[in-house]
Amino acid sequence: MLILGLETSCDETGVALYDTGRGLLGHALFSQVDIHVEYGGVVPELASRDHVRKTLPLVEQVMAEAGCTAADIDGVAYTAGPGLVGALMVGATLARALAWGWGVPALGVHHMEGHLLAPMLEDEHPEFPFVALLVSGGHTQLVRVDGIGQYRMLGESLDDAAGEAFDKAAKMLGLPYPGGPHIARLAEQGNPQRFDFPRPMVNRPGLDFSFSGLKTYTLNTVEECRVNGELAQQDRCDIARAFEDAVVATLVVKCRRALRQEGLKTLVMAGGVSANANLRAELKRALAKERAQVFYPAPMFCTDNGAMIAYAGAQRLLAGQVDGDEVPVRPRWPMEELPPIDDGAMAGRA
Ligand code: KG4
Ligand code: ZN
Repeated sequence: MLILGLETSCDETGVALYDTGRGLLGHALFSQVDIHVEYGGVVPELASRDHVRKTLPLVEQVMAEAGCTAADIDGVAYTAGPGLVGALMVGATLARALAWGWGVPALGVHHMEGHLLAPMLEDEHPEFPFVALLVSGGHTQLVRVDGIGQYRMLGESLDDAAGEAFDKAAKMLGLPYPGGPHIARLAEQGNPQRFDFPRPMVNRPGLDFSFSGLKTYTLNTVEECRVNGELAQQDRCDIARAFEDAVVATLVVKCRRALRQEGLKTLVMAGGVSANANLRAELKRALAKERAQVFYPAPMFCTDNGAMIAYAGAQRLLAGQVDGDEVPVRPRWPMEELPPIDDGAMAGRA
């Protein structure tokens, strides 16, 4: 079964072709970062307009590169939420129109389920059940995963998402949007001994997160370091390092706690922040001590992409799930509302 997947929930246009027998046949991504950078964040209307311009040409490009025609496609999957409503509408409308024209089924996919299943695209992928840490620009969640659509929320951020905290800290340091990769780069030159930032909520029981206190602490430190309004480059590096270390330590503590609570030895990490090299290394080190294993997607599939949507859609379409003729998008959509699919129906996990 060959599925075309479209991702347009935020500021990335992603398109991919996933075949349940042969795996990923092609993918392409257009990032709108250059469009939004001057505003310091994503401007929803500009995002929608650019998806209108980019999505269809990307579909044509991916199909041409994979050497496939409309007749080869068995279904179209698209991100139906959560995300920016206008941006979601562009992908949903195009996906439904293509599916209707080609006489194949269409299916709206949950963006976070896409992230959660992205590690399944790797040769070495996890087996159910596992605990998933989803860390993106909009979400920080720990989820128990017993199968596709069998999700139990274990904890989540009470305020900012981890990615959002990275983006805000980056702004304080005068770095462009999205800030995560820029903080990571500066942190490499930072002295880890200079500051000791608070590790939010690690001493409290439970699996929820909170990053707003850390944000305030970062802002206060930035202000204290300024001389005549200017921040020296080494100060920026040291603050970036202290901030990153605090986020990483917090996420690691909560992941270990979640695995212990659930009696599981497999952790999956996905979403934009899971591209962070320091986080990957620390989680691997911490979990190795407990003989637990961590899986994550290839860095290009950590941030938003079409492959994860094509994959998630393929599993659900293969299991017989299809949407009606309306074009539903759900800017807010709790992942626990998703229907389960029969594990035996899954493909591409040989
Ligand atoms: O999953 P994603 O691409 O989009 C959402 O669904 O939100 O995640 C984007 C987030 C941004 O906040 C970005 O700053 C963060 O992921 N991010 C990183 C890194 N790469 C992306 N954060 C920390 N370190 C990175 N290397
Ligand atoms: Zn995302």
